[in-house]
This record gives sequence, C-alpha cells and structure tokens, in this order.
Amino acid sequence: MKIVWFGHSAFLLEGSTKVLVDPFITGNELSPVKPDEIECDIIAVTHGHGDHLGDAVFISKRKNVPILAIYEIAQYVASKGASSIGMNFGGTYTHKTANITMVPALHSSGITDSNFTHSGGVPAGFIIQIDGVTVYHAGDTGIFGDMKLIGEIYKPDVALLPIGGLFTMDAKLAVKAAELIKPKYVIPMHYNTWPPIIANPEEMREPLNNMGIMLVVLKPGESFNL
Ligand code: NI
Ligand code: MN
Repeated sequence: MKIVWFGHSAFLLEGSTKVLVDPFITGNELSPVKPDEIECDIIAVTHGHGDHLGDAVFISKRKNVPILAIYEIAQYVASKGASSIGMNFGGTYTHKTANITMVPALHSSGITDSNFTHSGGVPAGFIIQIDGVTVYHAGDTGIFGDMKLIGEIYKPDVALLPIGGLFTMDAKLAVKAAELIKPKYVIPMHYNTWPPIIANPEEMREPLNNMGIMLVVLKPGESFNL
C-alpha cells in the first residue's frame, strides 16, 4: 500500500482499491494537488467539519465515486447530490478490495454551510484494510481508553494520529495514544495547517522508538510505502 498525505487529515490509501480520507484540499494551503487531480474509488469522511468534509461532494460528483460516512453525513451529502453510503460504529463496509470499519472518535461533528449548522451525527475514525495492510485513521480526536481495544481488535500496521492540539490531542498525548494502539508506524496529521495547531512531530520520535514504534513524518505530497 502507498499512503499519500495531502496535508491536514487528507490521505489517499492506494492499494488495489484507492480510498481517499477527509479530502480537505480547497482552502488547504499545504495541499500539493487540486481536488480534480485525485483519483480514488471511494471517499471516507470522519466527521462534518469543513476541514474534513472538504471537497468530498465535489470529488464524489466529478469522479462518480461514493462517500462513506456516518448516517447523518451520508444523508447530508446525498442532499447535495453526491452518492453516499451511511454506516455507524462497529460496522464494516466492503468496497471492492477495501474493508472499512467505523470506530469512535472523541470530538464534535456539526456541518456548517453558508447559513446553518446541520447535525453531522457524531465523529468517527476508520480502520481501513486493503491488500493485507491495516491503517487506523483516527479522525479528529482526543485520547480515549478504547484506543487500546481498537489496537487489540484490528492490530493496525499504521496509525494516522492528529497531533496539533487545541481541537485534538497534541504530540505528547499522541505518543500515549500510540502506546495504547501499538501500531508498527505512526504518521502524524492535523498539524501546522494554521497557527493554532503548530506542532513538532519530531518530539514523538524518541518516545515512540522506545516502544518499538517508528515515526514517519511526511511532507504534504509525500508518501509512505509498506
Ligand atoms: Ni474537527
Ligand atoms: Mn479538524
């Protein structure tokens, strides 16, 4: 699998099926691509905030691919003309060769458009399994004890963890989260997009190394192969 980072929480997981997660591209100054340059088979959205829902509706319509999200967000994007699949916690949706399981996140999930905030249900993370590789995209979240259970059940090879603080856990708490999840690799996300979420991922390297976990720091546009 090739894991491509577009900055913030936007990743393309490219195996025999291509899963795009949280495509916040327009308005993300770190993104090296334009929304219509991304090829994918399905778009998974963790929660309703604009920096995650992002260009999902646009890409879905342009590329004719479905959006997978919690039921309330699936209904919202369907009302905007996108094809969508609603799911909920503990469920797994199989799209081609990708198995995508929804797990909880500790955050909020309103969808704000020009004049109204819609209910986006509750926030989620995803366990995405393609070609025998398992990735945990934690979404926006604070640390929570059930991350240990997520680690035990799904044994993720890679954990994509927010580290920017303020809206999510920070780098120090992300190290503690990794201790619970026990992935082989941690890729930090949701940092340095804006001044309130400036973080230094390198401060995670030594404590993660001491637990036998490798820190993989990407620049927007870079990818990690495993
Ligand atoms: Ni958020
Ligand atoms: Mn966010």
